[in-house]
Amino acid sequence: MNAPDSTQPLASSSEDESPCLGLPMLGDDDATYQAQFVAWFRAVAPYVHAFKRRTFVVAFDGEAVQAGRLARICEDLALMRALGIRVVVVHGSRPQIEEQLRLRNMQSVMHKGVRVTDAAALECAKKASGEIRLDIEAAFSQGLANTPMANADIKVLSGNFITARPVGVVDGIDFQHTGLVRKVAAEIIQMALNERSVVLISPLGFSPTGEAFYLDMEDVASAVAVAVHAEKLIFLAETPGLTDSDGELLRELTSPAAAALLGNSTLHPDVAFYLRFSLRALAAGVPRAHIVPYAIDGGLMLEVFTHDGVGTMISPDQLESLRDATIDDVGGILKLIAPLEADGTLVKRGRGRIEREIEQFSVIDHDGRLFGCAALYAFPAEKMGELACLTVTPEAQGMGDGERLMLRIEQRARAAGIEQLFVLTTRAAHWFLKRGFVLATIEQLPKDRQRMYNWSRMSQVLLKRI
Ligand SMILES: CC(C)(COP(=O)(O)OP(=O)(O)OC[C@H]1O[C@@H](n2cnc3c(N)ncnc32)[C@H](O)[C@@H]1OP(=O)(O)O)[C@@H](O)C(=O)NCCC(=O)NCCS
Repeated sequence: MNAPDSTQPLASSSEDESPCLGLPMLGDDDATYQAQFVAWFRAVAPYVHAFKRRTFVVAFDGEAVQAGRLARICEDLALMRALGIRVVVVHGSRPQIEEQLRLRNMQSVMHKGVRVTDAAALECAKKASGEIRLDIEAAFSQGLANTPMANADIKVLSGNFITARPVGVVDGIDFQHTGLVRKVAAEIIQMALNERSVVLISPLGFSPTGEAFYLDMEDVASAVAVAVHAEKLIFLAETPGLTDSDGELLRELTSPAAAALLGNSTLHPDVAFYLRFSLRALAAGVPRAHIVPYAIDGGLMLEVFTHDGVGTMISPDQLESLRDATIDDVGGILKLIAPLEADGTLVKRGRGRIEREIEQFSVIDHDGRLFGCAALYAFPAEKMGELACLTVTPEAQGMGDGERLMLRIEQRARAAGIEQLFVLTTRAAHWFLKRGFVLATIEQLPKDRQRMYNWSRMSQVLLKRI
């Protein structure tokens, strides 16, 4: 998402920069600081409401630990938990296993990108997991005053939550202690989450015969997300999210589009792997999967609490929809237009009127949150219609939503037999002129509308034949 004020970055992208979320420091200009702080907090509020009591499965591989990102990731997860999000952490341990193997003068054996885990490699995997698990527990135990972890008091719970089965013999190769997830102890995980613990899961599973298996953390994360009915599966990746052929970040993708990308040989192997398991989770009912670069400080927060995020979000369907409003949208519309009513850009309407006229509204809905609206008031006798209340929230302006809403209203107007659309505006005449409207006079309005014309506003009248 864009920052609430797009001229102000919401967060610094480097650890060296001020941790004050891109806002000026108090004292520079107290009033500006306060206004921006409140605006920022309010912009985050819808996400906080939406994700309260939802479960997020956040997975990262051992590279994130090696890169020294653990403390910051855990701080962000602790904040999420404080905001009511139920947090499950799944960690990987690939580079740490490699390190353990190196220390023992052993080589890792891979087949088609999958580790062949013999008894010695399993020992390395156990040791690597044990160390990372302790590091994560330590990171969640921080509590120094004046840090994001002060008063966090987080208990981390882990255990034998994953039942595994062996990969077995594939292409004539025995994968030995390499396993696949067979079952997740979802009820126990839910119980721990209900107690407000953070659940920590390592890439190891156990068979009913008591044998241990090394698992892909992506397999574990995806299976856990499905089993606990997670709202989001988030992979914190060494690489940026998915990019198009020009190297541009793809911020949102539907499952079919993501599946099509899987066949693309230019895809980074790690990203392809995350994508495969993301798609598996989505197909089994997890609503959203994300691939977020951990290199961006606060990337997790930016991805979850802002509109555009900093990684790639994959969803089963198109996220943004332009649709006719329903009674459930009244609150969202009121919120959208309130600042514009307050500064006089729009005429005051009030809840009662919006409720009565809700069928005349079209809205742009992005993942359950409204980013724009417009209304059509018909004057059938004159075959005219008024395009009113066209609003796009500041953080989404300049991306074509205003025009899409206008086209939608034109479409609805045509369907209602309207031949001319008019608009009354005090501030956006040029916007409409650029889109085929021409300046008109009050006398060209339908008689009923002329009577309602507010002379104190002195709105300009613009007309378009549709
Ligand atoms: C007018 C409004 C709906 C446009 O929404 P939007 O989603 O930003 O529109 P689009 O992305 O389709 O168009 C963006 C373009 O319009 C321009 N634009 C935005 N507001 C404008 C205004 N008031 N006057 C002239 N041009 C404007 C932008 O500079 C941008 O120009 P560019 O494409 O050359 O860079 C939005 O700015 C808004 O909500 N304004 C406040 C409410 C209002 O005035 N409504 C109209 C009265 S009913």
